[in-house]
Amino acid sequence: MGKLSVFLFVLSFYTIVNAGSHSLWVLATYISGETPFPEFTAVVMLDDIQVTYYDSNMKHFIYRGHNTSDKIHDDLAQDGAYVFGTMYQSMKDRSVELKHHFNLTEGVQVQQRLTGCEMLDNGEPALAMFKNIFNGISEDYALYYNMTHFTYDAGKLLLGWDGIMQTLMKTKLENFYLPICIKNLKRFLKREKNVVMRKVPPRLRLIKKEVSGGFQVSCLAFGFYPRHINLTLLRDGQPVAEQDLTGGEVLPSGDGTYQLRKSLEVSTEELKKRHNYTCTASHLSLDNKLDVSWESGAERVHLFTLSALLVMLLVVILFSIFICVKRRWSNTASQSKLANIDATVSEKTNLSSDSEN
Ligand SMILES: *[C@@H]1O[C@H](CO)[C@@H](O)[C@H](O)[C@H]1NC(C)=O
Ligand SMILES: *[C@@H]1O[C@H](CO)[C@@H](O)[C@H](O)[C@H]1NC(C)=O
Ligand SMILES: *[C@@H]1O[C@H](CO)[C@@H](O)[C@H](O)[C@H]1NC(C)=O
Ligand SMILES: *[C@@H]1O[C@H](CO)[C@@H](O)[C@H](O)[C@H]1NC(C)=O
Repeated sequence: MGKLSVFLFVLSFYTIVNAGSHSLWVLATYISGETPFPEFTAVVMLDDIQVTYYDSNMKHFIYRGHNTSDKIHDDLAQDGAYVFGTMYQSMKDRSVELKHHFNLTEGVQVQQRLTGCEMLDNGEPALAMFKNIFNGISEDYALYYNMTHFTYDAGKLLLGWDGIMQTLMKTKLENFYLPICIKNLKRFLKREKNVVMRKVPPRLRLIKKEVSGGFQVSCLAFGFYPRHINLTLLRDGQPVAEQDLTGGEVLPSGDGTYQLRKSLEVSTEELKKRHNYTCTASHLSLDNKLDVSWESGAERVHLFTLSALLVMLLVVILFSIFICVKRRWSNTASQSKLANIDATVSEKTNLSSDSEN
């Protein structure tokens, strides 16, 4: 689980940084030792949706995107088989080297790789990267190329590559992996444009909740896509400093949209003061900023109005009850009068009938 989260963290980091771009990332795992899992598995993510799955048992990839009506083109399948095949072999080789170096003859060893590319909205490549992790925590070598800078990090496990090898890797990354990655990113983007290029505006709520020691004023944005959003909580028109806020992590809502909450702790005394809290959001789907406001300290006025209303309501109810009771009483009174008359009549009749007998 921890291993996966390292990757997801890296993945989310890279997708957060570049808003005006799309990315294609492969999350690959190579396992040596006895496990019920395939030796090699790979998941491919286009932005934040999974598009393919590959494993060493199947030897071909499954399209996992939304556009299933469309058949996979042969060249896409060919690229896939080639890329995953190469990756499988290189991770296997690395695993053998690492196991040998650390004398790991038994047990299960796991090697993970995050690799892929990013492309700007105008179609220009922006980044290619390789990152490797051994047994979940040990950082193995990494390569990074952002069109102007090439970085090679030897990691902490094996002796690094020499200059010639580094140059070779840079050339490969630049002229081979990056073009293949960008080409496939464009293909997937075309297939998935209805999903990854859609724009769903956020809905905003400003929520006040009682917590121990005071209140929590939360700014909540939800139901939006894509995930990049700027959400600010303002007090009297001034942005509240980020370090005073809790939350702030964009989370998936499970329905393909995202949500974000930022909360501020406010003491009971502070809440009694008059402040204007505003939650404001800017998002790709919005031309203008969206905001909702709420004024604290205004409650007492409302409370006063409310109690005045309640008193009036009470008076009305009491008055109605009084009227009702009065009517009832007079009704019962007249009814009992009638009953008295009846009684006298029947008594008289009885008497007369008695006398007849
Ligand atoms: C490698 O591990 C085995 C078993 O754990 C041990 O017998 C052997 O001496 C180790 N070799 C080295 C070079 O550390
Ligand atoms: C590439 O990375 C370097 C170093 O991190 C940075 O200075 C440079 O601006 C980046 N270039 C691009 C095009 O992003
Ligand atoms: C609170 O501030 C926002 C923007 O700063 C403004 O639009 C709104 O009218 C203010 N609300 C109140 C009740 O003062
Ligand atoms: C968020 O704010 C930053 C900095 O002001 C800006 O560059 C970016 O475009 C904004 N993002 C959105 C989605 O509005």
